[in-house]
Amino acid sequence: MNLERLIIEKIEDRILLGIISFVSIMVIVGWIAINENARMAAFTQQFEGRAIERGAGLFNQNCSTCHGLDGRGLAGVAPALNSPHLFGYDFREVVRAEIETIEKRIVGEAEDGSPIFEESVTAEEATTLTARLAELQAQDQAILAQLAPAVEKGYDPEKPTRLGQVGWSGTLNSYVYTTLVHGRPTSSSYWPQAMAAWSQTAGGPLRDDQLEQLTAYILNWNRDWTIDDLLAVNQFAKVPADPALVSANPGEPTVGTEVETILAELANYTGDPMNGQALYTTYACAGCHMIGEGGAAPSPEVTWLAAQAGTDGRPSVDNPLGYIVESIVLPNNYIVSGYVANVMPQNFGERLTYQDMADITAYVMSFDS
Ligand code: HEC
Ligand code: HEC
Repeated sequence: MNLERLIIEKIEDRILLGIISFVSIMVIVGWIAINENARMAAFTQQFEGRAIERGAGLFNQNCSTCHGLDGRGLAGVAPALNSPHLFGYDFREVVRAEIETIEKRIVGEAEDGSPIFEESVTAEEATTLTARLAELQAQDQAILAQLAPAVEKGYDPEKPTRLGQVGWSGTLNSYVYTTLVHGRPTSSSYWPQAMAAWSQTAGGPLRDDQLEQLTAYILNWNRDWTIDDLLAVNQFAKVPADPALVSANPGEPTVGTEVETILAELANYTGDPMNGQALYTTYACAGCHMIGEGGAAPSPEVTWLAAQAGTDGRPSVDNPLGYIVESIVLPNNYIVSGYVANVMPQNFGERLTYQDMADITAYVMSFDS
């Protein structure tokens, strides 16, 4: 080999150059790796920022006529979304948590009304705790007094979180998003106009990415909530706990949960499967029981055949109609294999009329081949 032709002649220098190049490359790769996260985060932020911006436009166009431009609701029309209640902010939480920890140590009450603490509490501690308890209770009363104007408008300080109030165990994101997808078909029985289904899959006008943008916009209202935010709410959400509120025919008698009685009475009704299908939307059954695979609940097309055959041990072979009725009014009596208990609402017995039940069962039984 002709060493004369090499630019760097000395072997030591060449090794040194090799080491320097290697280290430089590692430094550059490391630099890129470190900055990649920041770059991605900035990108994500921009992306979210754009989603929120688009969501704001969609909200102004489609939602503000009912929920108000500022999302604080319109009295008598639709509930606030820009509200500590929807976001589950509890103004009494801190004070009440401390009250509770003190109260847990109280075992009784003396004749003069002062608390008796568990044995481990010394007399001195008891005095401090008693004083602290009185102080906290006064604070709680003061907060309640500040909340009073909101209570006048329908806010319930015992149920400070909307999700808790309606028994939703998922996230706020999924609550908002699924409300947008399916709407609240029965809400026209307790609001002048129902919350419609917005998703194209449910016959509405908006695409799924637009529903995501709207959800991002609504969730972007989250902040350090103040009592003023609560007092600025024009309309609080209503709880459809009163069965009259959630029935499609408020005031009419409902079927209850006695399967034999329901079956005997159903003999006097003729079911309309088309109306049964519509009721799957009215009562939001269709949100879980989707046609085809992949819903949160068995698809309606399989149920009647499976009930007649006793598939997966359904206790139904002798009396498949009785099984359908029981599945609706007492869903937990038998859990279809692969699904979970307590997902299906347990109160349809208080909500469905006999005609509803006749129509719904006629719809289920129409999938007979
Ligand atoms: C015609 C009036 C109307 C329009 C327009 C409307 N909503 Fe609603 N919305 C309602 C009513 C009424 C309710 C309460 C339903 C209930 O109590 O079950 C509601 C409930 C909601 C809820 C659930 C609130 C809660 O506390 O449970 C969300 C989220 C929501 N709407 C978002 C939207 C968005 C986003 C739009 C626009 C795409 C929109 N709404 C358009 C009337 C409307
Ligand atoms: C929130 C979701 C949800 C809603 C809403 C819901 N269901 Fe269900 N339903 C389920 C789940 C999950 C199961 C399976 C677990 C079980 O057996 O309880 C089920 C089971 C059933 C079954 C038995 C299915 C089978 O293949 O054996 C019937 C029938 C039924 N539901 C009817 C209805 C009707 C009618 C409505 C509306 C009036 C309704 N469901 C609303 C979740 C729901």
